[in-house]
Amino acid sequence: MHETRPLLEATGLVKSFGKVKALRGADFSVYAGEIVALVGDNGAGKSTLVKTLSGVHAPDAGSIVVDGVEVRDFHPLSARRLGIETVYQDLALAPTLDPVANLFLGREVLREGILGRFGFLDKRYMRAKAESKFAELGVRIQDVASPISAMSGGQRQGVAVSRAAAWASKIIFLDEPTAALGVVQTRSVLDLIRKVRDTGVGVVLISHSMPDVMAVSDRIEVMRLGKRVARMITAGIKAEDVVAAMTGATSTTGDSNDEI
Ligand SMILES: Nc1ncnc2c1ncn2[C@@H]1O[C@H](COP(=O)(O)OP(=O)(O)O)[C@@H](O)[C@H]1O
Ligand SMILES: [Mg+2]
Repeated sequence: MHETRPLLEATGLVKSFGKVKALRGADFSVYAGEIVALVGDNGAGKSTLVKTLSGVHAPDAGSIVVDGVEVRDFHPLSARRLGIETVYQDLALAPTLDPVANLFLGREVLREGILGRFGFLDKRYMRAKAESKFAELGVRIQDVASPISAMSGGQRQGVAVSRAAAWASKIIFLDEPTAALGVVQTRSVLDLIRKVRDTGVGVVLISHSMPDVMAVSDRIEVMRLGKRVARMITAGIKAEDVVAAMTGATSTTGDSNDEI
C-alpha cells in the first residue's frame, strides 16, 4: 500500500511497569505525509507506545527504526533531533508563559550582544517567528502576549500542536489532542492536523472519537492489550469495523486491510 519505506517502524516493543505489561510485542509504523490514527480501548497501551516512540520510556525489548536506521539509547532529546515532536496527553505547556514563549520553550533564541553568546533573548525575532507559524497554520490567537492560562482549551491545543509542527521535520505524535475540546475547536485542530500532514510530516493521532478518526485519518492502526491487532486504510472501511477490531469482536480481513 506504500511504496516508500516508513519514516518510523517499531517492531516487537515490550514495556512493563512493575507487574503491568503495557506493551506486549507492539508493532507500529508511520509514513511521510499521512495521518495515521492510533486507536484502542483505555489501557490498550497507546500512550505508552507514543512515549516509547518519542524516547520518554526505554522499551524492555523490540526495535525502533527511524529512516532506515535503528535507534538506540533513545531519549526525548535524540527524538527531537531526529525531527520527532510529541503533544502528550498530559498537556505540557507552561501556563504562566505566553504562546511565543511556549513555542520556543527550551529553544530560546539568543541575540548576539556585548555578552557574546550569553546575549539576551531575541524576543522580537521569536515573536515574529511565532506569529508567522500561527498564521501559516491558521491558529488564531488574539493576543500572543497573554499567558496560556488565560486561553481556551482550543487555543491551548492550537499552541501545543503549533509548537510541535514548528519543530517537527518528520513525525508528530498527538495523544488525544481533541479530548477536552468542543465541536468548533475540534474542527480547527483537525484542520491544523491536515495542514501539518500536507507539509509531508507523518502525523500520528491518538483519538477516542470515531467520527474524528474517520474524518481525518488516511490509515488506522488498532491496538489491543499492548499489541497491534489490525491496520486499515480508512477509505475502505466503516467505523464499526474499527470498533470491532478494538474490542476483539472480529478477525475478518478486508482487501485493503491486513488483520495481524
Ligand atoms: N507510568 C506508568 N506506571 C505504571 N503503569 C502504567 C504507567 N503508564 C501506563 N501504565 C499502565 O499501562 C497500561 C497501558 O496504559 P496506557 O499506555 O496509558 O494506555 P492507553 O493510552 O491506551 O489508555 C495501563 O494498564 C496503565 O495503567
Ligand atoms: Mg492514553
